[in-house]
Amino acid sequence: MTRFANPLAFGLPTLLAAALQWLALPAQATEALAQKNNCLGCHAVATKLVGPAYKDVAAKYAGQPDAQAQLMESIRKGSAGKWGELPMPPHPKLSDADLKKLAAWVLSAK
Ligand code: HEC
Repeated sequence: MTRFANPLAFGLPTLLAAALQWLALPAQATEALAQKNNCLGCHAVATKLVGPAYKDVAAKYAGQPDAQAQLMESIRKGSAGKWGELPMPPHPKLSDADLKKLAAWVLSAK
């Protein structure tokens, strides 16, 4: 019986995980960028940590045409007073291309 249990326990989830990972590639590249820049030390997609949940940020800016530019500025220069007591430190070393990707990724969070 264990002989048959093994493929079910490991084979199928691994295959599914591989398929999901392949589908999620572009988002994953940006998530790696966020990881590298410590964004995820203060933020999570679905829950508030030090900073607001990215899905809450996405909801707040939904439908605003200049949302991406605003968030790029917030990330580059830091932000204070919009979400609570704590400020976000500036990230002056991020390139425009990276800021653009991060802002778009945050805005796509659900
Ligand atoms: C030290 C903790 C910390 C780090 C690191 C951090 N944030 Fe934040 N972030 C915050 C806090 C706190 C706020 C809320 C600021 C406020 O109330 O205006 C915030 C707000 C934001 C907002 C909303 C800004 C707005 O204008 O509404 C975005 C988008 C954001 N962060 C993205 C990022 C990204 C991307 C990174 C990585 C490059 C990052 N954060 C790194 C703490 C952090």
